[in-house]
Amino acid sequence: MNHQSFHPGKIWYDTDSVHINAHGGGILSHNGIYYWFGEHKTAGEGGNTAFVGIRCYSSKDLYNWKNEGVALAAVDDTDSEIVKGSVMERPKVIYNDSTKKFVMWFHLELKGQGYSAARTGVAVSENVTGPYAYLGSHRPNKKDWPVHADNEMKTTKFDNDLKWWTPEWREAVEKGLFVKRDFEVGQMSRDMTLFVDNDGTAYHIHSSEENLTLHISELNSEYTGFTGKWKRILPGGHNEAPAMFKRRGKYYLIASGCTGWKPNAARSFVAESVWGPWKTLGNPCVGEDAELTFHSQSTFVLPIQEKEDAYIFMADRWRPDNPINGRYVWLPIAFDGEKPVISWKDEWDLSVFDEK
Ligand code: DGJ
Repeated sequence: MNHQSFHPGKIWYDTDSVHINAHGGGILSHNGIYYWFGEHKTAGEGGNTAFVGIRCYSSKDLYNWKNEGVALAAVDDTDSEIVKGSVMERPKVIYNDSTKKFVMWFHLELKGQGYSAARTGVAVSENVTGPYAYLGSHRPNKKDWPVHADNEMKTTKFDNDLKWWTPEWREAVEKGLFVKRDFEVGQMSRDMTLFVDNDGTAYHIHSSEENLTLHISELNSEYTGFTGKWKRILPGGHNEAPAMFKRRGKYYLIASGCTGWKPNAARSFVAESVWGPWKTLGNPCVGEDAELTFHSQSTFVLPIQEKEDAYIFMADRWRPDNPINGRYVWLPIAFDGEKPVISWKDEWDLSVFDEK
């Protein structure tokens, strides 16, 4: 089967005629080939937990994808954090030009603990398709205050028993209630993405503080750990599923709200620096079902290497009752001035980027 276009929301067959199994994914472009990493989901309830691991596909044209196998396997060893039955979500891979290694980060939840561990796992490989060696997991920025943390956050004695969603609680959250609560153990890290800037500095962006606030953290020069320099983005904004990209010198973030596997309206933000300040640009989706992100949730924005000003919005249409049947919604991003605009298309191809 040779695809020559995208069909958002439809079954997407790989070159072996099997529906692609790479959910919550991200793409690395390396030496002229695209590599798509994503969660291997299984059939039936429970299929959102990791029984196989992180899968990799490769493509030269973005339409036709070859299954490259399991890049990071969930293991049988019950002493391992990535034991079968743990949660391994939203993997992203970047290439480190100095170490010549590929570095994978992903959202990790420990087996049997629901989503309470809120950790980020890291693995490395000398080969893009793997196998990746698991290095361990982090609660980021343990004992590091965010940059520009005001004295108020450091000195306030927050009331951890404040009733959730009350105005007093919201105010405390914005001032750093959860940052302070987690200071000694490290900050929570759930939905995440990676972004590498032109100067080679890499950042880990994750939903933290009980999913209420995004954190952006600088990675070390090997991309395998944190430097301790980090900042809060949009405190109390309740953003999940972050995707970051750069266009014409500006930084963009697209995210979702927090409604579990159910879709909600996407949000977009722009900034002159990764450290902000971030300006809200509203829902980038327009038209029918825009308030549900066309029944999907963001996972990545892919800049197309060979084309000018061409970005693909990648999202997941989750199927929690039968996760393996989840669908991929890929749509081109247009821009109205600096504002990203995403409209539904039943079918499209890369020539849309030549029509501007
Ligand atoms: C929404 C997140 O975006 C997904 O990656 C997943 O963690 C679900 N929540 C779990 O409910």
